[in-house]
Amino acid sequence: MAEISAAAKLPSSGDKLPSENLWAGSMTAIALLLVGVVIYTSAHWGFHPPSQVETIDSTALHTGGEFSEANLGTVIAPDGSALVRVVAQQYAFVPSCLVVPTGTPVTIRLASADAVHGFLIQGTNVNAMVVPGYVTTVHTTFKDPGERLMPCHEYCGVGHQAMWARVRVVEPSSFPTDADKQKAVNCAS
Ligand code: CUA
Repeated sequence: MAEISAAAKLPSSGDKLPSENLWAGSMTAIALLLVGVVIYTSAHWGFHPPSQVETIDSTALHTGGEFSEANLGTVIAPDGSALVRVVAQQYAFVPSCLVVPTGTPVTIRLASADAVHGFLIQGTNVNAMVVPGYVTTVHTTFKDPGERLMPCHEYCGVGHQAMWARVRVVEPSSFPTDADKQKAVNCAS
């Protein structure tokens, strides 16, 4: 029987087979396509990673400061923009219903009183985590009036699936403009 030499059957390290080039080329093309899709969707939908690092003492939210009870809800700034403050805790958002104006820049600031929570608002690019010890700030604008769901999307304990809030989008005229009368507004007020 003829002796089979393994060395003679294998290409030397300097050779490239056409199939190898095809493989490398198609993998590079797929990788570039995926990077392109990420860049396009990020730009088109305004996705971006949270960039602010603002710390807060999560164990003392209720004792005063920005996230004390009286400050939770929506206030309208002199320039007409809206600022909403929300506390996320096991297993509710406080307030459980946010009122926001249409056609107005809205800033939402959240802090967690306990575990890691997450939230998103239907039909917007709002989607972020709320990590104890940090303030989460998101910006958006609501075009149309109506009501949207804001579920917690980060598993935070046995009551996670029941943790969600509503966002009620109303005409800006529904908010008091008189600075004296203005206080944080939620759906109950
Ligand atoms: Cu809070 Cu899940």
